[in-house]
Amino acid sequence: MKPFEITENIHWVGALHPDLRTFDILMHTKNGTTYNSYLIKDEKNAVIDTVKNKFKSTFFENIQEHIDLKDLDYIIIQHNEPDHSGSLVELLEHAPNAKVVCAQVARKYVENITNRELDILTVKQGDTLDLGSRTLTFIMSPFLHWPDTMMTFSEKDEILFSCDVFANHFCDSHMVDEAIERNYWPDFEYYFKIIFRPYRKHIRKMLQKIDGLKISKIAPSHGPVLQDRLNRYIDAYQIWSQELPPNDPKKILIYYATAHGNTAILAKTICDTLRNDGFQVSYFDITEININEHLDRIEAADALFIGSPTINNDAVKPVWDLLSSFATLELKNKIAASFGSMGWSGEAVSFIDQRLKDLNFKVPAQGFTCKLVPGQGELELCQEFAQKIAGAF
Ligand code: FEO
Repeated sequence: MKPFEITENIHWVGALHPDLRTFDILMHTKNGTTYNSYLIKDEKNAVIDTVKNKFKSTFFENIQEHIDLKDLDYIIIQHNEPDHSGSLVELLEHAPNAKVVCAQVARKYVENITNRELDILTVKQGDTLDLGSRTLTFIMSPFLHWPDTMMTFSEKDEILFSCDVFANHFCDSHMVDEAIERNYWPDFEYYFKIIFRPYRKHIRKMLQKIDGLKISKIAPSHGPVLQDRLNRYIDAYQIWSQELPPNDPKKILIYYATAHGNTAILAKTICDTLRNDGFQVSYFDITEININEHLDRIEAADALFIGSPTINNDAVKPVWDLLSSFATLELKNKIAASFGSMGWSGEAVSFIDQRLKDLNFKVPAQGFTCKLVPGQGELELCQEFAQKIAGAF
């Protein structure tokens, strides 16, 4: 795609990747993505972010539609993930006069990526860069979603270059929101949920920092430039990043997989016990749910019980699939425990316990096991186990 001007002397010079179907291993990108870079022409020329290395030729051609690469003065790296820094080494080879500008904490990442000594200008919150007719102001936005992330604001142009914030894996040849005819909102929300869910506290801090800025356009690092009713994007980020209110009564979720119904009996026993004790409790067979549709619910819960039989000396795959999906969740202060029926070895609960501890759950007691079909005595022990775990609130 050819570069286009988003306002006078500021050009999108990035690359489209319409056929990308998975991003960062984790994300589905059914509408592809774009790697956005912005060239600011002024007395000093600056480019904000680069593109994935695979698209460097297109990127360089796009810049050269406007300036010779040798006339580039600054390369502003807002975030070092390779979808934005992947062309930096080659760009520096073609633009020997350019100085890299990045957050202080980003310096080590730039050095790790380029593996060379560079002329780097590090900036902190509120620092400015004079380009001639305009001054750029840097806004530190750490953990959105790397420690190095920053945003760039041009007061003259009323443009916020927002890096991954307000971004969207959505590729459309119309790179401005109001020109896009397809519905990009589900992708915009999905992007937030996958990328920023664990960093909501940092989103709230970022929103405070940009509050009061006169912003007419948001130029993110993926997807369309935003300029149509900007408040709806900012309001959505405010809603999605809100702190969850405390549950009263406490919410408990039980997820289990069962081979012959025995672990299911334990799940129901835990559920009935804790419901009788006044908690809000739900239980689910993991093999019958769409895990992604449960992530909001899991994040809003106070405690989780994870059940698995032991098969071939391990917990079963659906349980590991569930546990692997917790990486994008805020889990601090949640309680968790494991349970499961076993035949003879019973490793599943200890493996699950270890994983829960590694995820920073509080695990108040060793997982509960029974041999094959739980008898009356084992069910009573299971009830005591459930109450012991809930007693840790
Ligand atoms: Fe789009 Fe975090 O890189």
